Amino acid sequence: MDSVTDTDPELLDKVINLAKRRGFIFPSAEIYGGFRSTYDYGPLGVNMLRNVKAAWWRSMVQMRLDVVGIDAAILGPPAVWAASGHLETFTDPLVDCRQCKERWREDKIDGVCPNCGSTEFTEARAFNLMFKTQAGPVEGEGATAYLRPETAQGMFTNFTNVLASTRKKPPFGIAQIGKSFRNEITPQNFVFRTREFEQMEMEYFVPPADAPHWYRYWIDQRFNWYLDLGIPAEKLRLHEHAAADLSHYSRGTTDVEFAYPWGWDELEGIANRGDYDLTQHSHASGAKLEYFDQGANERYTPYVIEPAAGATRAMMAFLLAAYHEDLVEGESRTVLRLDWRLAPYQVAVLPLSKKSELEGVSQEVLGLLQPHFACDYDVTQSIGRRYRRQDEVGTPFCVTVDFDSIEDRGVTVRDRDTTEQVRVPIEGLLAHLRGRTDQG
Ligand code: GAP
Repeated sequence: MDSVTDTDPELLDKVINLAKRRGFIFPSAEIYGGFRSTYDYGPLGVNMLRNVKAAWWRSMVQMRLDVVGIDAAILGPPAVWAASGHLETFTDPLVDCRQCKERWREDKIDGVCPNCGSTEFTEARAFNLMFKTQAGPVEGEGATAYLRPETAQGMFTNFTNVLASTRKKPPFGIAQIGKSFRNEITPQNFVFRTREFEQMEMEYFVPPADAPHWYRYWIDQRFNWYLDLGIPAEKLRLHEHAAADLSHYSRGTTDVEFAYPWGWDELEGIANRGDYDLTQHSHASGAKLEYFDQGANERYTPYVIEPAAGATRAMMAFLLAAYHEDLVEGESRTVLRLDWRLAPYQVAVLPLSKKSELEGVSQEVLGLLQPHFACDYDVTQSIGRRYRRQDEVGTPFCVTVDFDSIEDRGVTVRDRDTTEQVRVPIEGLLAHLRGRTDQG
């Protein structure tokens, strides 16, 4: 039935166009010509991004007793980034093309300038990816501050605060969702690599001897999270980093990779950070970032297993995996087969006609559903066109109110994927939809 396959060379462009046209993702500051590599999330995009983050929070925090959340500051003092190693090592090798003067990441261009084809470059320089700014009202006199390049450090610097306030014991985790900033030399591929993005990270503190077990455990958990939310197994794989490719803090990293239109690439990384961060911050700050195990009468620095995902990158992968074109009764349509938990709207209420007789019962249905589902309401154009518009943005259910609804108190529920329609009494509508979205 699908006419668009994984090999469609236009898939990325189609998704970018759909995202702009239907209000998922807009290029930022577009009326001023845009600001390279920054994006704004529109009315549908903000719903979907919130759903991605809510699904992560639900599985990583809400459904567990061993993980708690925080929301730490974005601005931080240099001391944090000196201790974490970012001031010294969070760099990319930067080269300038001698012919056209374009600047590139040396490790991404295979010795040939993508702009002019030249093979003559300057010596590589280490370029730090952190955004540096001044905190305080007088330029040049304030304290230097950095925008965080990862959310992780907030979990390490708050380790004792969280231990003391929650009385958690290893194994336990601290989770955070929030913006991170990196002055990427070559931002690219839509929201895959941007300078401002959102991360969903969890630092899981464990007794050192148990680190290998928890490393495997979190790799499996995180792989299954994407599967559960609808990414097909053949578009996901694990990739373990070779020792030479590990980040400065890592004793082992495995990426969950996704089959993007340009090939396999990183979706999320799961790292065994050892005791690197807590030890570094202990030495630098003088605070003892340790755990005292009363049973064993032993003090130790926990190891950290870190599943680190991108919310904005995950949203892009969910959009790419969901995008399909198929034929319904001989007519082609675009459909986003998004899991109902991620779709911007779960239900669209569609009065069959604009006529005022239908308004009362349509508003009644909307009022019944709105407290439980994100709902759209659309009275424009033919019903067929309205179905297509909802299919294109991934709305799993359309509820059509017609003239019979006034008398028989029934409505028609249409399924996005099968296009099947069933008549359901208004009184039982909420229970019906809850049943079909596992919320029963
Ligand atoms: N605390 C570890 C850490 O930050 P990372 O592999 O650099 O690890 C984790 O980042 C995830 O954050 C990546 O797998 C990706 O999903 C997302 N991410 C990183 N840089 C990004 C960027 N420039 N744009 C969008 N997402 C990014």
